[in-house]
Amino acid sequence: MALVCPEEVERYAREHTAPLHPLLEELEEFTKNSVPLPQMLSGRAVGRLLNLLVSLSGARRVLEVGTYTGYSALAMALALPEGGELITVEKEEAFAKVAEEFFRRAPWGKKVKLLRGDAREVLPALEGSFDFVFIDADKSSYPFYYEESVRLLRSGGILVMDNALWGGEVLSPKDGRSRAIAKTNERARKDPRVESLLLTVRDGLLVVRKL
Ligand SMILES: C[S@@+](CC[C@H](N)C(=O)[O-])C[C@H]1O[C@@H](n2cnc3c(N)ncnc32)[C@H](O)[C@@H]1O
Repeated sequence: MALVCPEEVERYAREHTAPLHPLLEELEEFTKNSVPLPQMLSGRAVGRLLNLLVSLSGARRVLEVGTYTGYSALAMALALPEGGELITVEKEEAFAKVAEEFFRRAPWGKKVKLLRGDAREVLPALEGSFDFVFIDADKSSYPFYYEESVRLLRSGGILVMDNALWGGEVLSPKDGRSRAIAKTNERARKDPRVESLLLTVRDGLLVVRKL
């Protein structure tokens, strides 16, 4: 994955970002050494930011689209109050299995509920509203996940979408994935239901607040 900042700046930022929990450090290391596509894991900076946003917004019910090995799910759930809940959706059994094992080991893991399946089918069937949503699954479905997430968010709720810059390709999209991400960024910019902010953290984070 091409990052927006030079590699050494990314490393410096990581070194100056406090780790969230030893189990998350272990999960990152395990994923890097033993799971295919470890670059999909969001990592310390995004995890810290998600954790902070969940905490500051006072979210109690969180939805995540795209679990992978569970890093961002655990980072967000760590900030949830007693009785809080995080629902995360993953379609690949091998990744879901790793995530589940780490959810089981985390002292706060009971707050996480993993739904196996295709998020395109799972999201329309979800009930109730959410305070916070993190979108981080297949990029070509981002326009659909955005619409579903705004529908599911309560007023005042926050949506964060990862890879919003897609290594800078959104500036001049040439394939289906970059076109889908650029389309979603544009939709948020013009969407009268939300306020939007595009952060150049890691590969870009689109943050929107539902009015
Ligand atoms: C970038 S990774 C998620 C990384 C994770 N949020 C983290 O920070 O560690 C994307 C994940 O979405 C999953 N995924 C892709 N398309 C999906 C779909 N349609 N429904 C559910 N999960 C999907 C992939 O299998 C992959 O595990």
